[in-house]
Amino acid sequence: MAGRFSDAWLDELRSRVSIEEIVSEYVPLKRKGRRAWGLCPFHNEKTPSFSVDAETQLFYCFGCHKGGSVIQFVMEMERLDFQEAVKLLAERAHLPLPEGSPKADPIRADERERIYGANVAAARFFHATLWTAEGAEALSYLYKRGLTDADIRHFGLGFAPRGWDATLKQLTGQGFEENTLERAGLIVRREGGVYDMFRGRVIFPIISAQGKVLGFGGRALGDAQPKYLNTADTPVFNKRQGLYALNFAKKERSAGHLVLVEGYMDAVSLRKHGVEGVVATLGTALTEEQARLMKRYAPEVWVSYDGDTAGQKAALRALDILESTGLRARVIDYPEGMDPDDFIRARGAAGFAALKKYGAVEYRMLRARDGLDVSAQEGMTQYVLRCCQILRGVQSPVELENHVRRLAAESGYDREILMRQIGVSPPAQTDAPKPRLRPRQEEADAAQTAQRALLTLLCEGRIPPETVEPGDFAAGPLRDCAAWLIEGKAVNAFLEQLGEEDRASVLPALNYRPLPESREEALSMAEDSLAVIRASRRAGEVERLQAQAATADAEQRRKIYESIQKLF
Ligand code: UTP
Ligand code: MN
Repeated sequence: MAGRFSDAWLDELRSRVSIEEIVSEYVPLKRKGRRAWGLCPFHNEKTPSFSVDAETQLFYCFGCHKGGSVIQFVMEMERLDFQEAVKLLAERAHLPLPEGSPKADPIRADERERIYGANVAAARFFHATLWTAEGAEALSYLYKRGLTDADIRHFGLGFAPRGWDATLKQLTGQGFEENTLERAGLIVRREGGVYDMFRGRVIFPIISAQGKVLGFGGRALGDAQPKYLNTADTPVFNKRQGLYALNFAKKERSAGHLVLVEGYMDAVSLRKHGVEGVVATLGTALTEEQARLMKRYAPEVWVSYDGDTAGQKAALRALDILESTGLRARVIDYPEGMDPDDFIRARGAAGFAALKKYGAVEYRMLRARDGLDVSAQEGMTQYVLRCCQILRGVQSPVELENHVRRLAAESGYDREILMRQIGVSPPAQTDAPKPRLRPRQEEADAAQTAQRALLTLLCEGRIPPETVEPGDFAAGPLRDCAAWLIEGKAVNAFLEQLGEEDRASVLPALNYRPLPESREEALSMAEDSLAVIRASRRAGEVERLQAQAATADAEQRRKIYESIQKLF
């Protein structure tokens, strides 16, 4: 991952920035000993379990277990990739980027910056036009749609003048090259002529989570077609990848979910009425890229599409995409003929809050009724069969049970019959008490805990590295980490190389608590831990050899028993 930067250069960067200083810009911290504590920015909490360690230069939350290096902190907070986070930190530290290495293509990067520049200038121009005589009709249109001046400013809405080249003239007058404007999709060149892309339209600037103007959506004032015109693909914009209003929604992660709508106006209107975390797709059906983008900000998405057949069909497709991306999903089913904008204008935030948010399975079952007359036996049978098909996809037995109970009550079919239709035989009635953990298992758990304690002692420099060896740790990321630390290398660089899963398994082992204060106590804790680990390893080895002995001939068996004895 560190890829294009050399290890030495990254070490230099890390040595120039203080994680405590960087983190303090986002989270107030209070120093206690070598750690500084604060409220975790990654989950909701009332007492601080988030900390940064001044010596290891790592952050870690004892509540949600997020953690890593300063670069990884900036990646999380600013939603940047590794390269971008490094760049940002290097700028702060006044450390020049290494020659040639970091940017793949400086010319392309330059062009992107020029396009962003043109987009910002265009957004300002459109917005300013709204308050002139030329924008009067558009302004009154927005008022009619229930927006105030404050809303209009908040979203940076604007108006693109009529005529052929007002935007072109304005921006070339400001020094932008025609070529840049064309690459930004602001002007179109056709049959030798050049003209503005957006003419006589209300403008919705589409702004990235990092605050860059990516492109625009333009709504016709009257019934002109098409109703909405969007920026075509450019080097900085792709309608399948971005989300409208993400720049606002990203700050509202605390709600734990995002609300997904289809229309720009729906997003504006919901947010205006106080609904948090609203984002909109950009004129296409939801894509996997957009689902992954949302997943960075929240674990759950509420699909909030129009209350018509098209909206319901689109919601079902969105559910599949969200779930396959690993997001939890809910669906809001608006009254027939209403979209989120109509609904919130009629019923307000309280009405929105009171709306039922269907679970994914529940919603699919709701839709399974469509087109059926369930008051007739035939329709009900059809409905039940569709539901059983849907329920085949439910993994959790507890959830399945809930749905089946509901379906049984609703349909009059016996629970057992439904289970058979779904293809799940009823779970055996086991009244027998759960078997206690086998001693081997307990021993293995103890060994795992001991490895965590030991790795933390090593990482925090409380025991000399030669106290332990990599073989004391389970093969995999823990052992790799131990080997790294024993070589005397900094732990941050190790963490930056790990995938998400490995990192999640290593972090708790770098932050074991409680630890003793004194060096002597730390050493004796290490010795105790080592004894536990080595005993467990020996027990495992004995078990393995005994199993071998069971199928061996007399001579082999004698050798095996000899090696078992040598273990002690
Ligand atoms: P809708 O037709 O539902 O628009 O399209 P809306 O947001 O409710 O618009 P208003 O309330 O009439 O102003 C939903 C979204 O589909 C895309 C736009 O992104 C729009 O916000 N769309 C729609 C287009 O890209 N082109 C179109 O011609 C129409
Ligand atoms: Mn609408």
